[in-house]
Amino acid sequence: MIPQSQKRYTHYFLIAFGEGFRYNEIADKLKKKKTLDEREKYMSILKNGTLWKDTNGDPIHAHGGYIIFHEGYYYWYGEDRREDFYVSCYRSENLVDWEFRRHVLTTRSATEGYRVRTNIQLRNVDGGKVNLERPKVLYNKKIKKFVMWVHFENGKDYLDAAVGIATCDSPDGDFVYHGHFNPYGYMSRDCTLFQDDDGTAYFISASRDNADLHVYRLTDDYMNVDTLVHRLWQGEYREAPAVVKIKEKYYMLSSFCTGWAPNQGKYAVADSMEGRWSTLTEIGDETTYRSQPAFILQKDGRVLYYGDRWDGEDYFNSSYVIYPLTEKDGKLTMEYADEIEI
Ligand code: DGJ
Repeated sequence: MIPQSQKRYTHYFLIAFGEGFRYNEIADKLKKKKTLDEREKYMSILKNGTLWKDTNGDPIHAHGGYIIFHEGYYYWYGEDRREDFYVSCYRSENLVDWEFRRHVLTTRSATEGYRVRTNIQLRNVDGGKVNLERPKVLYNKKIKKFVMWVHFENGKDYLDAAVGIATCDSPDGDFVYHGHFNPYGYMSRDCTLFQDDDGTAYFISASRDNADLHVYRLTDDYMNVDTLVHRLWQGEYREAPAVVKIKEKYYMLSSFCTGWAPNQGKYAVADSMEGRWSTLTEIGDETTYRSQPAFILQKDGRVLYYGDRWDGEDYFNSSYVIYPLTEKDGKLTMEYADEIEI
């Protein structure tokens, strides 16, 4: 996207040095101005529930994803289920124009075991693709690596309920896969990561066939779970967790468990990740405005909920939505929006 200042400059250039100052040309210039203004507006507006395109004009494949900010760029990681891809990465300065960077994890990614005993196969026993869902990435200062945690299933049934780990020296390079495991032997499905201000990171995932939601504090290198700090909402079947910290309080959004079909979103609040979490409160409407949480991002004082609008019949027709979240007196509300200006 053209930087705002440059666009303004271009605009003044057109007005001041256009094709002369004859009266009948002024109308023309006004038209040009309007077109520019409209273009500016169009360029920063995302229409929810449509197929968002990258800067090459190709659909963005980044479902169940996550965005991090690193050295001037936002990096968006997400599921890419095409061909032999697993996770793709896009980069943007403005959250609107996304440049495709790389298929950061594929069936051909390099593998490397590490101190945690894992299975490092990126194909199943039949040679088919495994499922890698909801990839999340954090930068770890200690090991100076980007560390990805991703839900792993074997591609044949949905019974592994494990988590896969991968790392990379750069945000958008080829990630090295370090295999999958079940944290402390527990099932681990829909998941997210959350990094607190002091660098402590947490992995949150659905366990016991999705009945409970586990919160694990990670080791300081983010390469393993350190402590299971919570088993939340026993028997309430929460999926798709997403965490945000607002004014020293922690909010966790999640969905109910209905496959690809959207359902009533709920949230809870706590004074710390390891503190006591509230019971669940509804947010949005009975379908979370036709979406399921992917992650929550804060930008310029705004809290933006990113959700997937899955198409259960045709996965590749699934789209994205962004809804603003508002916090007031410890309560969160989600605003429905057809489109969002970023
Ligand atoms: C709901 C999960 O949240 C999605 O990530 C996906 O796994 C679907 N279930 C599959 O039914």
